[in-house]
Amino acid sequence: MSGLDKKTGKTVERPGEGAAGFSKNGFILAAIGSSVGLGNMWKFPYITGENGGAAFFLLFILCLVVVGLPILLAEMTIGRGGRGNASSSLFNLTNKKHWKWFGLISIITAFLIMSYYSVVAGWTLHYMIQSFAGALSDVNMDYAGAFLGFAGGYMPIFWSALVMAITGFVIAKGVSGGIEKFNKILIPGFLILLLIMMVRALTLPGAMEGAEFFLKPDFSKLNEESVLIALGHSFFSLSLGMGCMLTYGSYVRKDQSLGKATLAIGAGDLLYAFIAGLVIFPTVFAYGMEPSSGVGLAFIALPAAFAQMPLGFLFGGVFFLLLAIAALTSAVSILEVPVAYAMEQWKWSRKKTATIMATLAFLLGVPSALSVEGADGPLSNVLLFGKTIFDLFDFSTSYILMPVGGLIITLFTGYAWKRAGEEAGLTGGIYRTWMFLLRYVCPLLIILIFLYSVGVLKFS
Ligand code: PHE
Repeated sequence: MSGLDKKTGKTVERPGEGAAGFSKNGFILAAIGSSVGLGNMWKFPYITGENGGAAFFLLFILCLVVVGLPILLAEMTIGRGGRGNASSSLFNLTNKKHWKWFGLISIITAFLIMSYYSVVAGWTLHYMIQSFAGALSDVNMDYAGAFLGFAGGYMPIFWSALVMAITGFVIAKGVSGGIEKFNKILIPGFLILLLIMMVRALTLPGAMEGAEFFLKPDFSKLNEESVLIALGHSFFSLSLGMGCMLTYGSYVRKDQSLGKATLAIGAGDLLYAFIAGLVIFPTVFAYGMEPSSGVGLAFIALPAAFAQMPLGFLFGGVFFLLLAIAALTSAVSILEVPVAYAMEQWKWSRKKTATIMATLAFLLGVPSALSVEGADGPLSNVLLFGKTIFDLFDFSTSYILMPVGGLIITLFTGYAWKRAGEEAGLTGGIYRTWMFLLRYVCPLLIILIFLYSVGVLKFS
């Protein structure tokens, strides 16, 4: 809403209107940029391989449709309807103060996530440069030791500062001139490079074994636990529960179809995750490496595999470039959440806000950078609630704050705000289905994920 600022008398304009907000395609690309992150590139392929391949893939699609997409649409709708940040939008739509406080939770979540996400994003930059420079081409190198040595030192602080600087710079340039442009260049480029990597991986001798591990359906491996893993991941993968999609939604034009955008973002997220799996497993299996999980897969098993590949420094470098792009386009969407809040709340300029928030998030991330488990970093021995600082940030945001944020969105849209259907452009059966999911199905499932994550709910 543009209007007069009461304090300064200057006209303030929200980027959602006119030239400063997202164009239609720009919004879709930026939202895909947010959703396609490290989660797609290594977490999804791994959990799929572990939980019955294609069987899990189908389950994941189901979770995406039943839980992920309804909440995604709800977040974007609240943002566009409320025309504010992740806190003020909720207030604008209801005029009730408590919703402002509930909204504030997701802004704090985003800020906390940003602090350690930038650390991992920084690792990808380091590995990209190392690979292109040929420093990861030695077949006999101890890749596990190399990673732990790196993650346990002080260099990650430098890389995370660089990630923050890039992220802050993009955000400072504004929604259309910064965020949209950044994603418009990187996301299509990302797809082209990913496809090249896929062709390379699938034509390696022995690649099919990897493709099989990833995709061969094994319904016997599906159990209650896989359902909750799929649910939790559908949530994380679409960047829900921390105000990202809500904040992006507040910059969307009124004539954009949010329903279509939801489908495009969901399909994009799925596509990138699927192709990433067809890069990772064929590569790992072709060179006889273990398909280990998370950090070990991306920073230990894959570099060791690339070292054996002809032109491995190049393909390895491109792989880490892809990880870096995925991480950076997500990081931009995360930091924009507190930036949008502070700009509106304290009437700071975008440049000033981006600089301050990037600096604060960087400082908050330093203890995480120095406390990676197993890496023997300067702070790796400091345990809070039995966890390293890094793990504590990750655990409390991914498993506690994000589900809480998601629950707030479902309850707000399902019960508190009466005109969501109008803003979303939904009527009839589709509207009723959406409401049914938001009111009953999503809250129940989120509570289950939550109880499972904190260990209250257990399956033997
Ligand atoms: N969706 C991103 C991924 O798949 C992670 C993310 C979470 C980004 C929350 C923004 C907000 O890795």
